[in-house]
Amino acid sequence: MTVTIVGSQLGDEGKGGVVDLYGDAADVVVRYQGGDNAGHTVVHDGEKYKLSLIPSGAVRGKVGVLGNGCVVNPETLFDEIDALRERGLEPDVRVAERAHAIFPYHRVLDGIEEDEKEDLAAGTTKRGIGPTYEDKAGRRGIRIGDMLDPDTLRERLEYVVPQKKALAEEVFGTETGEAFDVEALYETYREYGTRLEEEGMTVDCGTYLQGRIDDGDNVMLEGAQGTSIDIDHGIYPYVTSSNPTAGGACVGTGLGPSAIGQGDVIGIVKAYLSRVGTGPLPTELAGVEGQTPGYDPDSSDEEEELATYIRDEGGEYGTVTGRPRRVGWLDVPMLRHAARASGFTGLAVNHIDVLAGLDEVEVGHAYERNGEELLTMPPTTEKWGECEAVFRTFEGWPDVDWAAVAKEGYAAIPENARTYLEYIESELDVPIYAVGVGPGREETVIVETPYE
Ligand code: IMP
Repeated sequence: MTVTIVGSQLGDEGKGGVVDLYGDAADVVVRYQGGDNAGHTVVHDGEKYKLSLIPSGAVRGKVGVLGNGCVVNPETLFDEIDALRERGLEPDVRVAERAHAIFPYHRVLDGIEEDEKEDLAAGTTKRGIGPTYEDKAGRRGIRIGDMLDPDTLRERLEYVVPQKKALAEEVFGTETGEAFDVEALYETYREYGTRLEEEGMTVDCGTYLQGRIDDGDNVMLEGAQGTSIDIDHGIYPYVTSSNPTAGGACVGTGLGPSAIGQGDVIGIVKAYLSRVGTGPLPTELAGVEGQTPGYDPDSSDEEEELATYIRDEGGEYGTVTGRPRRVGWLDVPMLRHAARASGFTGLAVNHIDVLAGLDEVEVGHAYERNGEELLTMPPTTEKWGECEAVFRTFEGWPDVDWAAVAKEGYAAIPENARTYLEYIESELDVPIYAVGVGPGREETVIVETPYE
């Protein structure tokens, strides 16, 4: 049985907490896309673990798999594993042989290209994610399996590195160093390959996972990032270079759509919106310099105050980069788009505690563009940028003892917050499975438990 977790907005919806909670019943937790751009924090036995690549389940004794749809920086992989070992854990992490490896030149090029793009820059994490997927699609990538075979690794590097060096030096006019040196890369990546082999970490992902399912084990598929930064369904070009939507769980693991479709697909919704990076955001409050297009430092004090309040209450600062995130009201057309694209069977709505104490809570119920009302996202980002949010206002709810609410259950959630939740449920026509009322995993109201 599988359960797939998908971010329904722009990433940072609190997927980790839900994976953590529902992952208790899972034997294997798999990531199917992305790489070390996915900052997540896991709290286990009172200890905080910050991870950016390995699946959070690995902290809790589950097998953590990086599927073939991931791009894997072996340096980050081993750093994270070693850091967990130093803290007394024994993470069991497997990596798909079909996954592509991130090389130092990918990181360098990510930085150079972002600078070059100016207004079109996506505000990437500069982890080399996009350039690695580019090489994968361009059939010049190097896979984890290639690192296990010295001849293949050398052959691939000798083909690709001179091209990357020429791109950096001749097109972008930058100097290159060790990151573009075949011999240095070969030595380093052979060492990584040897370690992967010695520790028995590589798998044929689809075969491994199907075998576990056939044995009656539970598999959790953990999406990183979110639907609106999906390369196909997101706000292109301000997107990541992979598919966080549920279809990505099939291609990115080697399990078929029917295997994924037999289980739940849970959309994770944050009760408001946050965004790291550039591009339009119709329900944005105030703005962040360097990220909000046409940022106006003199926007109204009231909006700025509200934005700062939500940002601080919600801890809206990037886990990987520490950058302040842009914040806004819930964007319901964005959620309708996500629910359809992934076929959600359940919702987990997080952070309703962050909005507690406000007099009123607004939502972008629809958009208006050229005098027309739209209930879902238009297909181009330019059209999306022309959309004005049509707001609905809800009465606020008080700040309460959320840990007690989590213990007592759904009925203990303040009435106005339940009205808000039920509005989301009815607009998306998807039942609520869980409500996040605080940062700890105990601070979750569980309505439905998947796998049962
Ligand atoms: P990249 O994934 O580093 O290439 O970045 C592309 C876009 O995705 C940028 O706008 C990033 O801010 C955004 N992004 C990547 N990973 C995350 C994440 O884990 N949470 C939120 N945004 C992300």
